[in-house]
Amino acid sequence: MKRKILFSKETIDQRVRELADEISQEYEGREILMIGVLKGAFVFLADLIRSLSIPCEIDFTRLASYGAGTVSTENIVVTKKIEMPIKGRDVVIVEDIVDTGLTLTYLINQLKKERPRSLKVCAFIDKKRKRKIPIEADFVGFTIEDGFVVGYGLDVNEKARFLPDVYIIEE
Ligand code: IMP
Ligand code: MG
Repeated sequence: MKRKILFSKETIDQRVRELADEISQEYEGREILMIGVLKGAFVFLADLIRSLSIPCEIDFTRLASYGAGTVSTENIVVTKKIEMPIKGRDVVIVEDIVDTGLTLTYLINQLKKERPRSLKVCAFIDKKRKRKIPIEADFVGFTIEDGFVVGYGLDVNEKARFLPDVYIIEE
């Protein structure tokens, strides 16, 4: 597997701190509930919360999609539900990558049913080109056009999550 460095650990650290500042300002004086989307977002979430200057609580969810390629959220299932009540809470979904937007759209629709006070999305990487549903994250770490990226929690067939930098796979 050939790969090329895209974002170094230093670049990521810097950007994650900036994002944490943005979020802290947005929710100043409040306490947020961050919902990490497993598995990819766990490294990002762990770094992000440690740079926040507001209090936060954490929960996790996990989704799986079947039959990729369709333009619907019908094939998405929740394989691990959140465990905390979110009604009336300021909720921030923390995703690794927004690609087609299908996963995120499904998750947002599910969570909205539980009537959070507010619901926003923080994505480590926004991949613009393959979007099938026009959805935008409220807080974005990095924007790329296309390509498959690994490291910093992101995997290719479960490999490479442990790498501290982000790499782009070269075909
Ligand atoms: P989508 O937005 O529903 O297409 O799903 C995005 C999900 O696919 C992300 O949460 C990632 O878990 C995964 N994914 C998409 N692109 C990449 C990539 O380049 N590297 C690793 N995982 C990816
Ligand atoms: Mg994911």
